[in-house]
Amino acid sequence: MCGIVGYIGKNGAKDILLDGLSKLEYRGYDSAGISVLNKKITTVKAKGQLKNLVSKCEKVDLNGNVGIGHTRWATHGEPSDINSHPHLSMSGKISVVHNGIIENYEELKSNLIKDGVKFVSETDTEVLPHLIEKNYNGDLLDAVIKTTKALKGSYALGIISEDEPDKIIAVRKDSPLIVGLGNGENFIASDIPAILKHTKEVYLLNDNEFVILKKDSVKLVDFDKNEIKRDVYKVDFDDTAAQKGGFDHFMIKEIYEQPQAIKSTLNARVAKGEKIVLDNIGADDLKDISRVFIVACGTAYHAGLVGKTAIERLSGIPVDVDIASEFRYRNPILDKNTLVMVISQSGETADTLAALRLAKEHGCKTFAITNVVGSSVSREADFVFYTHAGPEIAVASTKAYITQLIALYIFALYMAQDKNYVEKSVLEDVKSELLTLPEKVKEALKTDDAAKKIADDIYKETDIFYLGRGLDYAVAMEGSLKLKEISYIHSEPYAGGELKHGPIALIEKGTVVIALNTNNELKGKMESNIKEVVTRGAYIVGILPEGFTDIGESYDKIIKIPDTIPLLAPVTAVVPLQLLSYYVAIKKGCNVDKPRNLAKSVTVE
Ligand code: G6P
Repeated sequence: MCGIVGYIGKNGAKDILLDGLSKLEYRGYDSAGISVLNKKITTVKAKGQLKNLVSKCEKVDLNGNVGIGHTRWATHGEPSDINSHPHLSMSGKISVVHNGIIENYEELKSNLIKDGVKFVSETDTEVLPHLIEKNYNGDLLDAVIKTTKALKGSYALGIISEDEPDKIIAVRKDSPLIVGLGNGENFIASDIPAILKHTKEVYLLNDNEFVILKKDSVKLVDFDKNEIKRDVYKVDFDDTAAQKGGFDHFMIKEIYEQPQAIKSTLNARVAKGEKIVLDNIGADDLKDISRVFIVACGTAYHAGLVGKTAIERLSGIPVDVDIASEFRYRNPILDKNTLVMVISQSGETADTLAALRLAKEHGCKTFAITNVVGSSVSREADFVFYTHAGPEIAVASTKAYITQLIALYIFALYMAQDKNYVEKSVLEDVKSELLTLPEKVKEALKTDDAAKKIADDIYKETDIFYLGRGLDYAVAMEGSLKLKEISYIHSEPYAGGELKHGPIALIEKGTVVIALNTNNELKGKMESNIKEVVTRGAYIVGILPEGFTDIGESYDKIIKIPDTIPLLAPVTAVVPLQLLSYYVAIKKGCNVDKPRNLAKSVTVE
């Protein structure tokens, strides 16, 4: 949800900023811009993807060793050159990039207009350079501190000024920002991949921390300008992890990374015959938990639906799953024996973070499953489970989802191991099977060809249904989301038994139905549901385990996935659905890694 980057040092800022923005495009890509400071500030902005900005920059003199850049996901004001960041003060001497939303911008704007300020854009952000200029009294840091005191909302800011060309001032509140520490050069960025080419040493910032970034020094201060000491965080992945590595798109690379990602999630946590130990959780920390709320958005929410079944089946603890934006405003009943678990790949999703804070206010214990070390949820939750999937760049989540599932199974086993809700031998069986999943997902990737062929058959469809019962329904929801996100085909997931209560009216000759049928216990019921749509002319693509041999004649196409126990089947079943969405989107010529209107990290409400 907007990416920002800043550079000060010995090299030309322009190329470093543009390269950094290319690594942040997953955060938003409807327009982009940079300001470079060389006595005067020169700003170039362009609507559309970053490549438009790159070609515009070729025609402008952008020499200078200090600069800030931004890639935008529009919230206030349509994507356009004018609404792109950076935004300038009236004198043109101060330039600002912003990620977040200034909630009280209308009030601030009308006061500034009364003071004679002329606004050029429709953005909330533009109040910032004007306010900083108004508050400037010879010290840029003072002006920024004063300005932020007047703000409501969320922001990560990078600010440069012609009057103080030796520095960038930055600050964060409820929007991510890191500092990259170089040698004779320093950086700010919304996320680590933007600066990884230059340094692996970073400071992770907390809310309301101000940064004075100079070529040879970085100082962090609070509102009262007291210096804050911060340990250097050493990034444990390199630039290549955030490259396409020979694949055409990040999405397909990340799909193929899933076996390794699952191994990393399991690593050191699960071993046959041994108790599961989770980092920083004491033996008694969760023993009084009588109820779990799983709260998340998008794909992470779908992982939570699988987690509910796993936790309930293995530990007997009741679980509710909520969409974070709903949870936070529906006055959920929470107490100190409730564990609120948030799931967030980025660890920065605004609604998920707000849900976590709400849970803490109610005295609940909180647990975060996230992929990003040092992210906001990881720092604010009582307990953290890192999925260690490696950087996920494609907007549509794949390896993050699959590792969230693994994390949830591990958590379910952890909660179950000291209870007698199911027999120990059952838990051991689940554990053993869990350890086979990296290999089974590797096998499931062999559905690639079959998925591609089916994609050729169905890519012209305008409506596709996904059908499943039990856990298959949760996977159907994820499969359907994947398809609509990247191919823009309208698609709906339905529980097998529910279709007849209305939506079956939409089934007609040739309607494509992707039917998941992986659970022996529900197989017969599901086949009846499939028959109901076959009778009405549907074209059925079945996702079935190898072991199902007596499969009747309802299916037009079948994709076989490796056998596993029903509880873990979502892990293998989702793979062909990811591949199918990918190939449908490719066939349609869509921008797979950067689908329209979406952003990977949604740091606004
Ligand atoms: C956005 C992304 C989704 C993602 C969701 C939650 O909508 O496009 O792919 O599932 O945010 O993100 P999180 O980082 O909290 O998992």
